[in-house]
Amino acid sequence: MIKISPSVLASDFSALGAEAVKVEKGGADYLHLDVMDGAFVPNISFGAPVIKSVRSKTNLVFDVHLMIENPLKYIDDFKKAGADIITFHIESSSPVGETVDKILNCGCKAGISIKPATPAEEVFPYLEKLSMVLVMTVEPGFGGQSFMHDTMKKVKTLREEILRRGLDVDIQVDGGINAETVEIAAAAGANVFVAGSAVFGAEKPSEIIGMLREKAEKAYN
Ligand code: DX5
Ligand code: ZN
Repeated sequence: MIKISPSVLASDFSALGAEAVKVEKGGADYLHLDVMDGAFVPNISFGAPVIKSVRSKTNLVFDVHLMIENPLKYIDDFKKAGADIITFHIESSSPVGETVDKILNCGCKAGISIKPATPAEEVFPYLEKLSMVLVMTVEPGFGGQSFMHDTMKKVKTLREEILRRGLDVDIQVDGGINAETVEIAAAAGANVFVAGSAVFGAEKPSEIIGMLREKAEKAYN
């Protein structure tokens, strides 16, 4: 099923609660929360206390994307802050299997993310336990970058493997998603779409969310 997950990285941080409500009313499915530690990626965003402060403002599914060096250490904090889905990077320094189990044991859904240079096959050993694989379509760290078309090969590889095994795993794409790239990613097999600048940069986020969903639904099969 198609899901739209606006990234608050492009929102007005001084009014985070209101921004979340705006996209919830605008028809979003998830709220994408980008956690950056200035070590795994060259940028710092926000952590668990900020996520916790928004939790009471909206019923959106909290889709937490951890771009941090040691995700295993902080899983409990993000669970307590209200995360529903926790996605971490396979390139981080935490043991992958243990981190997935920790996320599942605390009652969240687990996702693994791969950077543009990481092969799709690296996620294969964990697929049975995952709800989602996040294929980064830009180098993680900043919003507003251009979609990397090369990454679509990995989306296709993953979708084929998920279908071959008869699993129900979402494929999320993140970075440079807009009216044009959403169709390309959906046609390749992605079904969860993160959009930061496209949604929060728009005058009417609801129109953009609706348009992204419609285009994705047509292109996904
Ligand atoms: C980038 C983040 C993205 C970012 C996407 O490292 O993971 O979620 O906010 O922003 P746009 O949609 O502007 O490319
Ligand atoms: Zn993200």
